[in-house]
Amino acid sequence: MKIGTYEIQVPFVTTSSDKLKTLKKLSELAPSPTAVDLGSGDGRVALELAKWGFDTTGYEIKKDLVERSKIRALEMGIEDKVFFFEKDFWNENLSSFSLIYIYGMNSIMGRLEKKLETEMKSDAILITNIFKLPHWKVKKTENNFYLYYKQ
Ligand SMILES: C[S@@+](CC[C@H](N)C(=O)[O-])C[C@H]1O[C@@H](n2cnc3c(N)ncnc32)[C@H](O)[C@@H]1O
Repeated sequence: MKIGTYEIQVPFVTTSSDKLKTLKKLSELAPSPTAVDLGSGDGRVALELAKWGFDTTGYEIKKDLVERSKIRALEMGIEDKVFFFEKDFWNENLSSFSLIYIYGMNSIMGRLEKKLETEMKSDAILITNIFKLPHWKVKKTENNFYLYYKQ
């Protein structure tokens, strides 16, 4: 499906709220507090990361979801900790982030793995929800999250 020039490969489904406690625990393994959510949806994960102390970026291709996320950040008074951009994350460089989060789909995980091989910081962590990378070894699994170090 196409929105403007964007090819949508991953639909909007949220990370369930009962999993956020696990995510918080895993996020503590990040070497420093800078995070990105690739496809930030309605912002719920990025907003949580910001509440937990991360300087957070959310890339999202759907304009209405970006707007909703920005409003929520203002309502929560954390607009200086979390920034939402209407952008295709495939075009963004990920080398400044210590925690990379994605709730994607099987069909994109191979492409993501290749992108991370060149862009992910050597000490950063990747957390995926439900879907695994095809070749990288999982370091930790909890509640259907997979945590990886760079390989
Ligand atoms: C499964 S949802 C996850 C939403 C949020 N991360 C969460 O866990 O609640 C995936 C989101 O990625 C967005 N998306 C898909 N492809 C994208 C791309 N190339 N760049 C930015 N956002 C994208 C979709 O619009 C959707 O909102």
